[in-house]
Amino acid sequence: MFRDIQEVFYSEEQIQAKVQELGQQISKDFEGRNPLVICVLKGAFIFMADLVKQVSIPLEIDFMAVSSYGQSTKSSGVVKIIKDLDVSVEGRHVMIVEDIIDSGLTLSYLIDVLERRNAQSVSVVTLFNKPARRTVDLQPDYAGFEIPDAFIVGYGLDYAEKYRNLPYIGVLKPEIYST
Ligand code: PRP
Ligand code: MN
Ligand code: MG
Repeated sequence: MFRDIQEVFYSEEQIQAKVQELGQQISKDFEGRNPLVICVLKGAFIFMADLVKQVSIPLEIDFMAVSSYGQSTKSSGVVKIIKDLDVSVEGRHVMIVEDIIDSGLTLSYLIDVLERRNAQSVSVVTLFNKPARRTVDLQPDYAGFEIPDAFIVGYGLDYAEKYRNLPYIGVLKPEIYST
């Protein structure tokens, strides 16, 4: 185990099993719709890559980079678009792929942007959902795991830009936050 990690919350195997389930459900629900699957960078990059491999219908992908957390463990509440989509969402069935929904601010902002750009439908898949921390009323259409209010890292999720490369989800040792 990586030296800064105190405990593994979800193993690589548990995550892959869940991603496969989500991919199969999405394949059924989006049959014939050629969804535009949008990865919310950076956190969702690994989930996105694994998820689309488990989807067995035609789809297109694009990327958007937004940030609300910066170097902190708390959301600043201000969402910034760092990289926009390359393609138009007008008339498209759009699926937003997130790694985690916490306050919900990032997603409610993104959903709003995509609806104003006249997407035909906007759906959300997140691997992790922290409903206890929600400050806006928002439910994902697909969620992998409901998790308690602990700061987790790995599988795309960072603390100050580190730990995204861990293949599992873990909690950091408390002393890491104070250094
Ligand atoms: C994290 C995470 C989600 C968002 C969730 O992204 O990846 O996108 O925060 O929090 P919220 O529901 O409170 O808005 P972050 O802003 O840290 O950027 P990153 O994906 O580049 O790490
Ligand atoms: Mn993110
Ligand atoms: Mg982050």
